[in-house]
Amino acid sequence: MTWRFALVIEPAASDDSRTDFGGTFTEIDPSAPALSVGELSTQRGDGIFESIGVIDGHAQEVDAHLDRLAHSASICDLPAPSARQWRQAIDIAATHCPADAEAVIKLILSRGVEHGPTPTAWVTAAEAADNTRARTEGITVVTLDRGYGIDVPARAPWLLLGAKTLSYAVNMASIREAKRRGADDAVYVTSDGFVLEAPTASLILRVDGRFVTPAPNGGILHGTTQLSLFEHLEALGEETSYETVPVSMLGEADAAWLVSSVRLAAPIRRIDGRDLALDAEATASFNRHLLSPRD
Ligand SMILES: Cc1ncc(COP(=O)(O)O)c(C=O)c1O
Repeated sequence: MTWRFALVIEPAASDDSRTDFGGTFTEIDPSAPALSVGELSTQRGDGIFESIGVIDGHAQEVDAHLDRLAHSASICDLPAPSARQWRQAIDIAATHCPADAEAVIKLILSRGVEHGPTPTAWVTAAEAADNTRARTEGITVVTLDRGYGIDVPARAPWLLLGAKTLSYAVNMASIREAKRRGADDAVYVTSDGFVLEAPTASLILRVDGRFVTPAPNGGILHGTTQLSLFEHLEALGEETSYETVPVSMLGEADAAWLVSSVRLAAPIRRIDGRDLALDAEATASFNRHLLSPRD
């Protein structure tokens, strides 16, 4: 049985001192039409979003997601969101998630209606896809050219590269291209030979005994899952590092993972046709950590 929940939010200012934002939420029928035809999120993809993993009714890493929502809003010149208001909306959505299953809560903040005065915002909750296979059997990836150099985020900030915008058509096209090439997913590389991220996930490599992820220096999202895993690894005494990763490092890795809020840690078993050992023990321990309640 599929289920869904949706709540429309009247966005409050970030300094709104109310403690109870209940009056700004309207629960709507998730299968009924809800958006105006003038919505800039649908016309132009002009807005930002977050996808939060929910485990047995517990929304994971809410603060990290709200921090990134605020970061995306600032890059996109959207009004700063009220963290307290969004947290209350997430709490309500979480109460509609099953107590014994995985779900996903999405936060959407749109530029609003054309010529309208304010942004529009809503939260949805739905059951998560079953990702057991990707987590246990692993995935294959191909590298795809992102089409620009590593210096582009600084040279062209209007490309909004560090923001999680609603414009994911390119990301979805990249996954289709990866599938056409016989792989499950893609890893973006810059045209000057550096590794970035996947279309919907961060990349972690194990190289010479340390865990490496491409530095989020404006060009990629700072993944909440990667952050949480690095904290976990550091607590276990492992070495972690953010680096500018040349494509050649993919060939030096003895294990690699794509990590994200809903799929969690998916071990990579082949990159561009090169087989990689699947470290089942490390992967299981990553996913045990990611499936435990995390704030
Ligand atoms: C482009 C991109 N990079 C990285 C991530 C991983 O972020 P998180 O771990 O917060 O889900 C995502 C998640 O959707 C993404 O879309």
